[in-house]
Amino acid sequence: MRLNQLTNECDMLLKAKKEHYAVGAFNFSSIEIMRAIVDAAEMSRSPVILALSEGGLKYAEPRYIKHVVGVVTEMTDIPVALHLDHGKNFEIVRDVIDLGFNSVMIDGSSLPYEENIAITKKVVEYAHKHGVVVEGELGVLAGVEDDVKSDVHKYTDPEQAVDFVKKTGVDSLAIAIGTSHGAYKFTGDAKLRIDILEQINSLLPEVPLVLHGASSVPQNFVKTINEYGGNIVGAKGVPEEEIREACKHGISKVNCDTDLRLAFTATIRKFLVENPTIFDPRKYLQACKDAMRDFVAGKMKDVLLSAGKAH
Ligand code: G3H
Ligand code: 13P
Ligand code: ZN
Repeated sequence: MRLNQLTNECDMLLKAKKEHYAVGAFNFSSIEIMRAIVDAAEMSRSPVILALSEGGLKYAEPRYIKHVVGVVTEMTDIPVALHLDHGKNFEIVRDVIDLGFNSVMIDGSSLPYEENIAITKKVVEYAHKHGVVVEGELGVLAGVEDDVKSDVHKYTDPEQAVDFVKKTGVDSLAIAIGTSHGAYKFTGDAKLRIDILEQINSLLPEVPLVLHGASSVPQNFVKTINEYGGNIVGAKGVPEEEIREACKHGISKVNCDTDLRLAFTATIRKFLVENPTIFDPRKYLQACKDAMRDFVAGKMKDVLLSAGKAH
């Protein structure tokens, strides 16, 4: 059974694609992070996707997630979807569907092409039977996703993308156009292959396209982390104008995790150094939550252009 009131992610993304904005999928693994995301969405009247990786789900504990997200969807009038990020096999997808998620990603991007098709098709058949939408992935992002690691990009092939969508029946497609996961995305020029995106989009005009690894790695967070005892050197994200450009060309879901981790870490490091006598977690967690909320609200308004698109 689906959690009450969750919004169909496919409808959300098709509307976004038509109107040239993107819905943010923000990863969470604790109540503070989830509330920061939902508060930002409410403040900016933006639809939002709450995303959990397998690691995030394990950390947060599935039975808590089911109830906490259930309460959120009853409290807010903002469109909210609950999404499994980077599902690696059929079993995890089946488990989260049983739990009430209404959107899943099956990530077969590290598999040989035919195997990616086979696992994705199997997931689509099961998910659609339960009213759940599916995101597939084609192409490889450099960097680390859970325990899959790749040192090189393998850009998505536009013709293959068409074949993949046709054979699997996915509702949305994650593509590789030069982003990567984590805080170290570029050593040289921070540029995306918008030309590849344009080709894919012209061949798949009705399919929402998804940009993973889309954190911007704000340098003010990196600087604060380093000023207050951290050691994050050479961190670089996707420039905001590149994301805005991608949204004009068919990207309608943008994934963001690293930026929230940086906001949280920068705030807690600074707070504890500046307030050595405070030991009430509510004080520093409140500060962290506010910092993440303000960051997400800014991203919705200025980068994804989803503010005001709740209905
Ligand atoms: O796409 C990867 C996300 O940032 C999730 O990361 O597997 O460490 O939770 P995680
Ligand atoms: P970032 O590491 O750029 O935040 O990407 C997150 C992501 O793609 C989650 O699926
Ligand atoms: Zn991702």
